[in-house]
Amino acid sequence: MAIPDRNLALELIRVTETAALAAAPWVGRGEKDLADKAAVEAMRKMINTVDMAGVVVIGEGEKDNAPMLHNGEHVGNQEGPSCDVAVDPIDGTSLTANGMNGAISVIALAPRGTMFDPQSSFYMNKIVTGPESAMVIDIQAPTTVNIAAVAKAKNLAISDITVVVLNRPRHQQLIKEIRDCGARIRLIQDGDVAAAIETARPHTGIDLLMGIGGTPEGVITAAAMICLGGAIQGQLHIDGKNSGPILATRELVNSDDVFLAATGITDGELVKGIRYTSFGAVSQSIVMRGKSKTVRVIETEHYLK
Ligand code: FBP
Repeated sequence: MAIPDRNLALELIRVTETAALAAAPWVGRGEKDLADKAAVEAMRKMINTVDMAGVVVIGEGEKDNAPMLHNGEHVGNQEGPSCDVAVDPIDGTSLTANGMNGAISVIALAPRGTMFDPQSSFYMNKIVTGPESAMVIDIQAPTTVNIAAVAKAKNLAISDITVVVLNRPRHQQLIKEIRDCGARIRLIQDGDVAAAIETARPHTGIDLLMGIGGTPEGVITAAAMICLGGAIQGQLHIDGKNSGPILATRELVNSDDVFLAATGITDGELVKGIRYTSFGAVSQSIVMRGKSKTVRVIETEHYLK
């Protein structure tokens, strides 16, 4: 079986750049479905120019009937390696519609058959952290034990640790536990892929992500953690309960031969959003490869006239 070629990394940036550029005119316009539609259509066109025989394993859209790059859809020009493909044309559709920070367009690739297929499970309880503390997290341990272990591994005081949590009523107890043990919290309205990646990037000030978010977003996060040396542990959250086996990074994406690209739509800690200029627009993207552990941050000037 042909394996994904390293040139794919740069091809993938074109895919997320195109989707982010298509979403950008919708920033702050209060139209999340139209923003998503524009990004999906742009991504679908560009993805089919990539040298791969891809099958979408993680598509976005089922959760809220948004326009889809649906699961099982064949993507790529069918001339390259066989890949599982995870796409999120916009992670943070509401952030985009409201002009708030943290929306990205993201795609991840891995060899065919290596990505966890979430089927209809929308939610996953997750814990994510970066390389220094990747070995010490345990999703089954109490919140305070995880925070203390991460603090120790990073040689920080517990009060220095910042945990990202999606701002949802379901996280009331988790937020209390984090506060009670003395750590800091950054609440986010949406967009837990970028937030999860930030736990594994230097100088973001984010140490951990905890709580229940999307399962597809969990698989995309696993692809990023393979490239960055971080870790995710997840457990599906069905009918209000955590259930089934603990899914560690490798259970979510079982290969080192992983690529991930993300482009900012709105500004964030991970990447800047699309900015318009007199000649067109500027985008910022991050692209990473699991095998080599190379991470590139790429700023692109797009001539749009
Ligand atoms: P979309 O942009 O696809 O709507 O997802 C945004 C998001 O915040 C994800 O980042 C997160 O994993 C999920 O939604 C959380 O789901 P919910 O909003 O239902 O709590």
